[in-house]
Amino acid sequence: MQETLTLGRPDDFHLHLRDGAALASVIPFTARQFGRALVMPNLKPPVTTVMAANSYRDRILKAVPKDGDFSPQMTLYLTDNTPVDEVGRVADSEFVQAFKYYPAGATTNSDSGVSALKNVYRVLEAMQQMGVILCIHGEMTDPATDVFDREALFVDGPLQQITRDFPDLKVVVEHITTTEAADFVTDAGINVAATITPQHLLYNRSSIFSGGIRPHFYCLPILKREAHRQSLLKAATSGSAKFFLGTDSAPHAKNSKEACCGAAGCFTSHAALELYAEAFDSVGALAKLNDFASRFGAKFYGLPRNAGEVTLKRQTWTPPDEYAFGDETIVPLTVGRSLGWKLV
Ligand code: NCD
Ligand code: ZN
Repeated sequence: MQETLTLGRPDDFHLHLRDGAALASVIPFTARQFGRALVMPNLKPPVTTVMAANSYRDRILKAVPKDGDFSPQMTLYLTDNTPVDEVGRVADSEFVQAFKYYPAGATTNSDSGVSALKNVYRVLEAMQQMGVILCIHGEMTDPATDVFDREALFVDGPLQQITRDFPDLKVVVEHITTTEAADFVTDAGINVAATITPQHLLYNRSSIFSGGIRPHFYCLPILKREAHRQSLLKAATSGSAKFFLGTDSAPHAKNSKEACCGAAGCFTSHAALELYAEAFDSVGALAKLNDFASRFGAKFYGLPRNAGEVTLKRQTWTPPDEYAFGDETIVPLTVGRSLGWKLV
């Protein structure tokens, strides 16, 4: 049995860090294992300009523990009102790597999202021309659409439309959760890729209801059936450079998760690599984790590989049930269980 696993220092291509005291609480977990992370822009108010992204990046850097060499990579929140000129500023920026497209109302802090695709067509045209990446939260938002069908219907509708009308646009379908999304990305051109989270590789929708309602398994897009989880594991371990690591670690205070209307988002940064190692190990594919975690994402984003390495060892340990989160606490996805891998 393989006892250790060494990876090139990896990147997390989908991360929520929040701001202020919450940011200061969670950033050390990411900085100790990843060389870079692509930071989502869904603050209140959202990060919509390169100028705002640069000052958010400065706040993140101030919160990174001193001995680290972590480099935040930024995204801008695409809105109905994003000016075409902002695309040029992103193309010229060293640290802003992409626009994030949230359909209005799809998820946490997405009220400023795009209300109709045609509202952003001129911006998408400019992005295609300048090689700026579009990260997509791929879910329908019509409340009449069943929550478990939202991604598959988005793939079949708006995603088809975007990739048809902008065939050279670089697209990352974020946090895919279905066979339909995995197949779509596999069959699309090389300019279309996807991130996959640890929770969608490890759990299916029954986990949300096992023995009672478990809010820490609730994120968007929601966990799907076991057959979808199997498709994601297959895609992640296939060796295809289109699938790479993006945790979507999305911290919410304990009292906003454990509530009568609990927030969407799973916190996984405290054990991100350990969770991915568990998923890859479950199908005998540990040898594929290095490409997924440390090479394919950087390649798609046109970034050099990070210097250095990280090592995991096979060891049973139990993460705390709560971590500090500003003045509050946060409950991780792993609450109540042990892990079989540990970052050295
Ligand atoms: C994210 C958050 O909390 O910011 N929540 C989630 O369930 N994934 C938003 C998002 O990425 O959808
Ligand atoms: Zn997210």
